[in-house]
Amino acid sequence: MIAPSILNADNMHLSRDIKAAIESGITRFHIDIMDGHFVPNLSYGPELVKDFKRSFPLTEAEIHLMSNNLDTTLPLFVEAGCDILEFHYEATDKPEYWLKYLKDQNVRRGMAINPSTPVEEIKPFLKDLDQVLLMTVKPGFGGQKFEEKSVERLVELKNLIKSEGLNLPIEVDGGINHETFKLARNAGATILVAGSYIFKNGSIEDQVMKLKKEDK
Ligand code: DX5
Ligand code: ZN
Repeated sequence: MIAPSILNADNMHLSRDIKAAIESGITRFHIDIMDGHFVPNLSYGPELVKDFKRSFPLTEAEIHLMSNNLDTTLPLFVEAGCDILEFHYEATDKPEYWLKYLKDQNVRRGMAINPSTPVEEIKPFLKDLDQVLLMTVKPGFGGQKFEEKSVERLVELKNLIKSEGLNLPIEVDGGINHETFKLARNAGATILVAGSYIFKNGSIEDQVMKLKKEDK
């Protein structure tokens, strides 16, 4: 599955860009929330998510929450109507609490890990997740280069999930283009986020089609 990150879409024409991707068959968008604290950048607030779900009720809104002030920020995005919420393992000392909170709110649960975090650290949480987000760049900005060591980490995560007797989708995020898409797909990723490759390279339709060719 391809989940475009709207971070690099044209903010003055966001709905035009989202529609173009939907017309190319996209059913889920990855919405990057940055708090200026967990990462050195800022992006959207919950109003964007509310407007997204009002305009595109049948399309999934996946929140990638790059914030370590979850007490304030996380409930805002749940209330805004997101379908999936991924918070960072590194951002909280009470992951169990948030996993239960999301379950009670009927929001699908993802846990994100930074490139510097050993994958085995999230082993205790795998059974309570709907998906794992393995960052393939340091979070904070679009347009960065895919970290090659991610391929090994993907295989490691895939084996860890298997050893727990689970079958969890693995998502990758950062520096995905048609080449790194193939690398990550072959190493076990099944949800692939792409931002600048889709929205900053001319025709959105053409870019989605190029990735779709690799999504087998
Ligand atoms: C980075 C974000 C990514 C980013 C991906 O912190 O989490 O989702 O928007 O953008 P590209 O595909 O340009 O690396
Ligand atoms: Zn992201």
